Amino acid sequence: MTSEFTVRQAELTDINDIIKINRLCLPENYSFDFFYRILSEFGYACAVGEVNGEVIGYLLSRIERPFSSFIGLNPSKGHVISIAVLPQYRRQGLGILIMKYGMKKLIEHKVDSIYLEVRVSNVAAVEMYKKLGYYIKREFKQYYRDGESAFVMEWGKKDSTEENHE
Ligand SMILES: CC(C)(COP(=O)(O)OP(=O)(O)OC[C@H]1O[C@@H](n2cnc3c(N)ncnc32)[C@H](O)[C@@H]1OP(=O)(O)O)[C@@H](O)C(=O)NCCC(=O)NCCS
Repeated sequence: MTSEFTVRQAELTDINDIIKINRLCLPENYSFDFFYRILSEFGYACAVGEVNGEVIGYLLSRIERPFSSFIGLNPSKGHVISIAVLPQYRRQGLGILIMKYGMKKLIEHKVDSIYLEVRVSNVAAVEMYKKLGYYIKREFKQYYRDGESAFVMEWGKKDSTEENHE
């Protein structure tokens, strides 16, 4: 574990570091406006990890409130949009720490489940999510632009009627 590692809430001033890490680490890239919107609206559920003051990883997440949540049906869900840690800092437990920070914030904001999409070939991420208690809820065929399928993984209350792919 890197001793100088800290996790904190992401601020708008982190946007360029976050975009740089996103482009380096993932094929799923977004516009500046998208990052700006998520950080402005859901900054409390977004995080950065720093080593000696340098941003080396990030998490973007948001809360989705279906209309029916306002009348007590279908509670709000957390959605992990994107997470990445720079390659040279991986496998030291930092991804898990960044995720835990964001999950705690989402739970404090009253979500009782959190979901995400992940490439079926992304063993590192799938294993990290499993370690955090996520389960594979379903497979979304040809979800990504290049035709790869996604696992939809979820943390939280499990519906007993759901098929479990684990
Ligand atoms: C996924 C990612 C964020 C993990 O970050 P990390 O800091 O390396 O994760 P951690 O060190 O906290 O690893 C936690 C657990 O995840 C699993 N894991 C992580 N990397 C793994 C790998 N390469 N192979 C298999 N399992 C892996 C292990 O269970 C690990 O625990 P362990 O080291 O005790 O065995 C990182 O690999 C990354 O940035 N990947 C590119 C971006 C990406 O794919 N993001 C997810 C998009 S859905």
